[in-house]
Amino acid sequence: MQRRNFLRTALLSGLSLNAVGSRAFAQMPRIEPATANPAFQADVEIALSAQRGDWALLPGAQTSLWHYTGSVMKGDAGVLSFADGSGHLPILRLRRGQRVRVYFENNLPEATIVHWHGLNIPQRMDGHPMYAIENGQRYVYEFEVDNRAGTYWFHPHPHERTSFQVYQGMAGLLLVTDEEEERASLPTGEQDVPLVIQDRSFDEHNQLRYIGNMRHNWMMGFSGERVLVNGSADYSRQVSRTAHRLRLFNGSNATLYHLRWSHGQAFTVLGTDGGLLEQARQQETLTLGVGERVDVWVDFSGLAAAAQVQLLAESYTPSLENFTASQEGAALQDGARPIARFLMSNVPATAVAPPGQLSVYPSLSRSEAVNGNAPRQVQISMRMGSFYLNNRVFGGMQDVADDSRVKLGTTEVWEFANDARMGMGMGMGGMMQMAHPMHVHNVQFAVQSRTSSGQQSALHRHLSAGFTDYGLKDVVVVLPGERVQVLMKFENHAGLYLYHCHILEHEDLGMMQNYLVEA
Ligand code: C2O
Ligand code: CU
Ligand code: CU
Repeated sequence: MQRRNFLRTALLSGLSLNAVGSRAFAQMPRIEPATANPAFQADVEIALSAQRGDWALLPGAQTSLWHYTGSVMKGDAGVLSFADGSGHLPILRLRRGQRVRVYFENNLPEATIVHWHGLNIPQRMDGHPMYAIENGQRYVYEFEVDNRAGTYWFHPHPHERTSFQVYQGMAGLLLVTDEEEERASLPTGEQDVPLVIQDRSFDEHNQLRYIGNMRHNWMMGFSGERVLVNGSADYSRQVSRTAHRLRLFNGSNATLYHLRWSHGQAFTVLGTDGGLLEQARQQETLTLGVGERVDVWVDFSGLAAAAQVQLLAESYTPSLENFTASQEGAALQDGARPIARFLMSNVPATAVAPPGQLSVYPSLSRSEAVNGNAPRQVQISMRMGSFYLNNRVFGGMQDVADDSRVKLGTTEVWEFANDARMGMGMGMGGMMQMAHPMHVHNVQFAVQSRTSSGQQSALHRHLSAGFTDYGLKDVVVVLPGERVQVLMKFENHAGLYLYHCHILEHEDLGMMQNYLVEA
C-alpha cells in the first residue's frame, strides 16, 4: 500500500526519466495499408472505426475514451453488438468458415492497427505494428475464420503505444461459433454472457489516469484501483435461474486476477483461450493473466428468487503484490472484492444437466515435435531496467533472430523460462520476481509442463491452483522461478509473427520478438 502510494506520488510529481513513446517509429518507412481485394468473396463485411467518445463508466461525469465502434455492411446485424449495451466494448460474432472483410478506419490522433488475438490468419491480417496506419487512413482486413468455437478478442498493436491505447478503452471481443458448439447445446442468447474484466484509475473528474513517463512505473505495469466489468464500475445483472455460459476475459493492462464464486461453488470450465475443451472440468478458483479467457458454465437453478451471487476477485500486480484491499468498490468478502453481481429473477427455476462431451479436436502430440528433447528456449530476464527475451529487446520492425525461425508445418516445444536468479535486479527491490503472461501470435498451444525451481511459496500454490493449463491456449502465465513448456504446430501461413509478454507496458518496453514461419 505504501509503495503504491509512493509510486503514485512520484508519478504525479512528473519526474520524467525516460519518455516511453513512439519517437523513432514516426520516421520508419510505412508499408502500404492493405486494400480490398475484389476477388475475395466476403460473407460478412464490417466497418470498424477507432475513435474518441464519452461514456458513463462511473456515476457523474462521463469518461472520455478511445474505443472501437462500427456497423455491419453485409451479413446478419447480430454480427456486431456491444457488451451489456455499453456502446464502447464491441462484440463480433462470427462463424467458423465465414469469410470476413473489415474496413478499418483510424480516427484517432495517432497511428494504430488492429490485432485479432488468437486467430490463425495470414501475416498481413495479423496487425503487426509495421502495418500501423495514421489518422484518416484505412486498412482492409480479409480473412477466413479458421478457429474453433471460442472466445477471442481484438486490440490495437502499434509500436510502443499498445498499452496506452488499450488503457484508453480500445478492445473488443470476437466470439466464434461452429457446428460442434451448436451440438453441445450450451446456453445462448441472454444466457451467454461475456464479462470483460479491466481495471482503471480515475481522477476526481472521472477521467482516466494513467502511468506517466517513469520507466520504473512501466516496469511495474499499470494496475488501477477500480475493477470494471463490461465497462461498469458496479456491474450487476439480473439473471434467470438456469444455466449460463460466462465468458471471463482479463482485458486489463497488467493485473492478474484470481476469481471464485461467493456461494462457494466450483467453476465448470467449458473452454480456454483456443476454444471448447473436450469435456467440462471443475475448478474451485480461476487465475487469469492479461489476455486470458476462460468460458465457464454455471447453473443458478438451485438459488432462491431474489438471491444474489457474486464473482469475487483478488488482484495482483505483475510482481505478485496483492492489492485487492487497496482497490475501491464493494466491501471485501474474505479478502476478495466482489466485481460482478448476479441477481436471481422471480421466474421459476429450470435446472439444466451439466454439459458432457463438448468437442473433439486433434490433440497435438509431443512425439511429432521436431525438438521434443531440446525445446526452443525463450529466456525471460531483466537487466538495467529492461526486460529481455533471449537477451534481446524488440528492435527493428522486421528483425528476426536466428533462434526465432520455425518451419511451416512443423510442431515444436517452446520453453518459457522465468528464471529469477538471485542477484538479478536486486537493486530494484526484488522487482525481478514478476509473473509474465506469455503470448504467441498465430497459434494455439497445449501446455505441456510447468516446473518450478526451488520451493514454491504459499502464494505460488494459491495462484497455481487457478491456472487452466489445459485445452488450447494462446497466453500462459509464467510465475517467477517457473519454466513452462508449450507444444504448438505452425500449421498454416508462412510469415512474420510475434511473441511477447502480454503485460502491455512490458510489451511496449520491448519484451517482444518477431518470429518467422518459413515455407
Ligand atoms: Cu493480444 Cu500481440 O497480442
Ligand atoms: Cu495476439
Ligand atoms: Cu512481462
